[in-house]
Amino acid sequence: MNAIEAKGVTKIYKPLDFWKKEPILAIQDINLEIKKGEVFGLLGLNGAGKTTLMKIFLGLLKPTKGYVKIFDGKIEERNIRQKIGYLSELPYFPKYLKAYEILDYFADLFHLDPKKKKEKINEVLDVVRLSDKQNLKVKAFSKGMQGRLGLAQALLNEPELLFLDEPMSGLDPLGYKETRDIILELNKKGKTIFFNSHILSEVEKICDRIGILHKTKIIDIQPVNRILKNYKNLEGYFIKKITEN
Ligand SMILES: Nc1ncnc2c1ncn2[C@@H]1O[C@H](COP(=O)(O)OP(=O)(O)OP(=O)(O)O)[C@@H](O)[C@H]1O
Ligand SMILES: [Mg+2]
Repeated sequence: MNAIEAKGVTKIYKPLDFWKKEPILAIQDINLEIKKGEVFGLLGLNGAGKTTLMKIFLGLLKPTKGYVKIFDGKIEERNIRQKIGYLSELPYFPKYLKAYEILDYFADLFHLDPKKKKEKINEVLDVVRLSDKQNLKVKAFSKGMQGRLGLAQALLNEPELLFLDEPMSGLDPLGYKETRDIILELNKKGKTIFFNSHILSEVEKICDRIGILHKTKIIDIQPVNRILKNYKNLEGYFIKKITEN
């Protein structure tokens, strides 16, 4: 069974306003199969359609055409949604709350067993290396720390499949490494990870396979080790593919 299966997925956004009448073709005819246990990186330039595709997988947007299966089910099904974690591109948290309080709030939203809640919050804080910051208000958090808090929130319900939209954007080199270690650790525990990124030096260290989304279409899917056999790094390969198409 695949973790994600997409067939012919197309999204056309409605015209933005009365004066701009053309619909916007964001992605077209996307076919993709992501295996259970895989780390998959979706690469593409700004505006390529990466977030659109991820939101369709998550059920936050409806495809104009095509269909998506998540663990052989539909994302609208409750038991399928319960298997999913999501870190959005721009996570937002109330600034006056402490990290622990925010996770406690989401734990209640997710109906976590009150008896196990505390243990789970401490566990996810530990995974994202924020245990020592749990009583700090979010207004005192750096961008990197806010990103890790977002990841902690995405892990509360013990998801089998994690969607991460640009988990490394805006981080410093230490932030890259920490996020990379966290992703690899989660994958070792059996989680499937699908993420969008521009930071190719990191992508090549983390991913089993990559897909390139360019001008609304997936133009290539490859195992990373195959690319690195023939190219010095992923960046060289990516630029070549983008300029060819
Ligand atoms: N709600 C919307 N209404 C209309 N057009 C949209 C909407 N959201 C995105 N688009 C358009 O769809 C295309 C794909 O956008 P998307 O956000 O999916 O790209 P992306 O690959 O995630 O880009 P980035 O790397 O900048 O995050 C762009 O042309 C964008 O302007
Ligand atoms: Mg995006």
